[in-house]
Amino acid sequence: MAGDDCALARPHPLVYRPRAMTDQSTWTPSSWRARPFKHIPEDYPDADALSAVERELAGYPPLVFAGEARRLRERLAAVARGERFLLQGGDCAESFKEFSPNTIRDTFRVLLQMAVALTYGAGLPVVKVGRMAGQFGKPRSSPVETQGEVTLPSYRGDNINGMEFTEEARVPDPQRLLKAYGQSASTLNLIRAFATGGYASLRNVHRWNLEFVSGRPQFEEYLKIADSVAEALSFMEACGVTEETAAPLAQVEFYTSHEALLLGYEEALTREDSTTGLWYDTSAHMVWIGDRTRQLDHAHVEFCRGINNPIGVKCGPSLDPDELLQLIDVLDPENEAGRLVLIARFGADKVAGGLPKLVRAVTEAGRNVVWSCDPMHGNTIKAGDFKTRRFEDVLSEVRSFFEICRSEGAIPGGVHFEMTGQNVTECLGGAQAITEDDLSSRYHTHCDPRLNAEQALELAFRIADGLKSDRERAAA
Ligand code: PEP
Ligand code: CO
Repeated sequence: MAGDDCALARPHPLVYRPRAMTDQSTWTPSSWRARPFKHIPEDYPDADALSAVERELAGYPPLVFAGEARRLRERLAAVARGERFLLQGGDCAESFKEFSPNTIRDTFRVLLQMAVALTYGAGLPVVKVGRMAGQFGKPRSSPVETQGEVTLPSYRGDNINGMEFTEEARVPDPQRLLKAYGQSASTLNLIRAFATGGYASLRNVHRWNLEFVSGRPQFEEYLKIADSVAEALSFMEACGVTEETAAPLAQVEFYTSHEALLLGYEEALTREDSTTGLWYDTSAHMVWIGDRTRQLDHAHVEFCRGINNPIGVKCGPSLDPDELLQLIDVLDPENEAGRLVLIARFGADKVAGGLPKLVRAVTEAGRNVVWSCDPMHGNTIKAGDFKTRRFEDVLSEVRSFFEICRSEGAIPGGVHFEMTGQNVTECLGGAQAITEDDLSSRYHTHCDPRLNAEQALELAFRIADGLKSDRERAAA
């Protein structure tokens, strides 16, 4: 994956070299610091220690190369044209505790399995983007958490403070940023090895899918998908198209992403690409702006407008069409397909009321964006002490999203999930029929409830089915 166009590790701020776009001339990797911000901790006990860590990070190697982020933009441009489909997924919050090669492998593996189902359903190549290798920091709905008589600052992600409910753990510690960088680097290293070293071979992924569906009567129909893939592979092999002759059968392109929340960290990893002179945030291929931090004049939008990675913007019920169009103007002044992914996250009961007017406004303005659906963050409910989500609500929001995009003349480009390869019990339902009573048995998330491996794959199969029926209807 290396190329000669890597964004070199140079300290910054450097003198900004203006791009063609004049309104960018005021941007620097640190220009966000002059703007108001939300959800970035200001209670580090020692501001100098934080600055020292950020300086240290600024000298560390980039985690991704500018050329890779550019390639993802090309892939996303194809999604915007309806030629590819986007699958983005992974943890709500990666944690130091769940960090292990098996966890990384299992999440990677489920994403590939889901991608095979979606490729089949959509009849399109799937662009695979993990919420992995950097998804640590969390915006929280409340800055404090109360248990009994005790109120402490909220947990904000392992790169900021600790989850244990003690005063000491909840103090932000800048050393955690270095640990998160290290974990992201090792995670990405393993992903790169899996992606190119034979593990991701289509035959393997296909075999795993067979393991998943066999013996489960409710998945009978998916065996048909499996059979068609097997037939296609055998046919291609007979024609001489094998893993030796065709790299896509043995290797996958896999990209990383996270919410660009902790801007000091993102700034430290933002480097000027030596071949183009453009700035890239080398902490991930793609970053997104969360639903709570997308204020036009605030720091997160300021930071993201100047980096050249693909940018996601979470679009929830509080976003109005005019504000969205202004955000698009700031973040994508050149109207370049592949730059912006608008990630709708309304909730199954709110999507029909809120999404059509956004899609209509963007379509009427002729904006080249990718529309994607996050059916997780608008569907969080409480069951006793647990935050959870119903499988049926998740599926229902995705289905509504497809219908709305189509009826507004836009392309439903992708899906965005919180999921894990582990057999956790955090979301309700699915064929496994996880109940409220089951939640306590394996509830491990550090933040929001994730689909487990089986629920995630079942969801992909159900979506694939819908995509396939839509195609058949369109062709009839
Ligand atoms: C998230 O994706 O983890 C998240 C916090 O989402 P949102 O900003 O849409 O609430
Ligand atoms: Co979440």
